[in-house]
Amino acid sequence: MLLVAGPASVELARRISEVSGLRISRLSSKLFPDGETYFRFEEKLESEDVVIIQGTHPPQNKNLIDLLLLAHSARSMDAERVLVVAPYLAYMRQDKSFLDGEVVSSKAIMEVFEKIQVDKLVTIDAHAPWIFEDVFMPVENLSGVRLVAEHMRELDLSNPAFVSPGKKAQQILREVAASLKAEVFTVETKRDLLTGEVEIGTLQGDIRGRDIVIVDDVITTGGTLVKIIKRLKGAGARRIIAGCVHPILVNGADQKILEAGVESIVGTDTVPSRYSKVSVAPLLAETLKKV
Ligand code: R5P
Repeated sequence: MLLVAGPASVELARRISEVSGLRISRLSSKLFPDGETYFRFEEKLESEDVVIIQGTHPPQNKNLIDLLLLAHSARSMDAERVLVVAPYLAYMRQDKSFLDGEVVSSKAIMEVFEKIQVDKLVTIDAHAPWIFEDVFMPVENLSGVRLVAEHMRELDLSNPAFVSPGKKAQQILREVAASLKAEVFTVETKRDLLTGEVEIGTLQGDIRGRDIVIVDDVITTGGTLVKIIKRLKGAGARRIIAGCVHPILVNGADQKILEAGVESIVGTDTVPSRYSKVSVAPLLAETLKKV
């Protein structure tokens, strides 16, 4: 099995290689003057299981095209199997037409992977995992939420509670919370389909004086989190830590979150950032070993 480090995930690929002992194949790349990517595989891929590691975080369009070019090329070079590891999978937000005529981007992207004949897609906390049920290609959607929650053991929390926006992460948080003697509270969120504004529902449970760890799958603009932080502060939370799997953090989201009163932001290295304190490399290495 050979690893290919896509330009968006060079550091993560290096970590996976370190943990798994799998070798990174030599790949050269450059940008043409107009911004298009040139790649050259410097080793034969024939009869190899080739694992392309390339996140599709911003700039999504470039990172996604690079991933498709690499996967397509590995397939054309007669790799035995082509596995794609996209730790953050872009374009999953739009999993149906909420309004007439809306483009269902998640479906389009999945069909392109299938057309290229990707043998398996591995990702982490995809936005709408239910879409994989209608995909022929095997997809493994791993949980980074557990890793972020487990990281909280390293903080000296008093009377802790996890707060998760929506129900997606609830089950995993409950499992981790049980061993931390923590509680789990959920806040419902609702996004306006036209304006994108998020409304948050009521927070069940008494959080006065407690240390709170918010765990979300992704922080993008920080809008959802800032509203939750304000609500938590108003309800008397003591320390607040903002955790997420994918720290996308666009348009100064981190500043907004810190200014709203959190102590720290903890994310994983699915998306490289200064807050990527938890590595998903061991999880991915273990998954590749099973493949
Ligand atoms: C929603 O389903 C997600 O779990 C996140 O809460 C949301 O995508 C975060 O977006 P933003 O940071 O832009 O509010």
